[in-house]
Amino acid sequence: MDIRIFSAAREGAIYSATVIEQIIKNRAYPVLGLATGSTPIPLYYELIRMHQWGLDFSRVTTINLDEYVGISADHPQSYRYFMKRYLFDHVNIDQSRTYIPRGDAEDLEQECQRYDQIIQLNPIDIQILGIGINGHIGFNEPDVSLKSKTHIVKLAHVTIQANARFFESPGEVPEHAITMGLQSILLSKQILLLAFGEEKAQAVVEAVYGDVRTSLPASILQLHPNVTFVLDEAAAALLL
Ligand code: F6R
Repeated sequence: MDIRIFSAAREGAIYSATVIEQIIKNRAYPVLGLATGSTPIPLYYELIRMHQWGLDFSRVTTINLDEYVGISADHPQSYRYFMKRYLFDHVNIDQSRTYIPRGDAEDLEQECQRYDQIIQLNPIDIQILGIGINGHIGFNEPDVSLKSKTHIVKLAHVTIQANARFFESPGEVPEHAITMGLQSILLSKQILLLAFGEEKAQAVVEAVYGDVRTSLPASILQLHPNVTFVLDEAAAALLL
């Protein structure tokens, strides 16, 4: 596991964007695994800047980690909406090759299977992850199975509270999500986990130095051969 500590989130975002840039340039059909939430926003900003300087997204496929259940793609709090706003609408990506689970699918089990097939057909070159304050990655909450593929999850109370800032009231935050599983995340060829801010410091130190355990899902990244934690000083504070 590689750990990179930057003075500020922006520096970490620039580093991460440079890693992704190399993958986009060097692979014929690059596949990026993407995350939502506050953490990757500065990274997407840097990728948009790189596109303005000529980085070509036309051969890129993207696969997002998760989506809320019961929310349609055009809902302002949907992760499809988020991705369009912060990345897809600003680069020359073919949006038919940007995959995000359909949270409003009638048959959610079938949707999980469809998503697993997409992941199988498009092996992920690099997966971007954030981390929840309870150590979740994607929406794999504590005690998820290590062998999980795409599945429906009941969001932890702490996750609902943390995400309430994006909704008008906490009662509006969906209680369930559809998420890529830990097994699929571990199959990505390379992983960048980004964490910025002091509220992430405890989860980060447990993920890096704690026992590998499903009660702290990010700790399973210790099993992956090519993981980099991209941190600002606040998120890294307990590592030093
Ligand atoms: C989002 C996701 C989540 C977030 C995590 C951190 O697609 O999978 O695991 O990465 O909840 O969220 P932020 O970045 O908002 O602190």
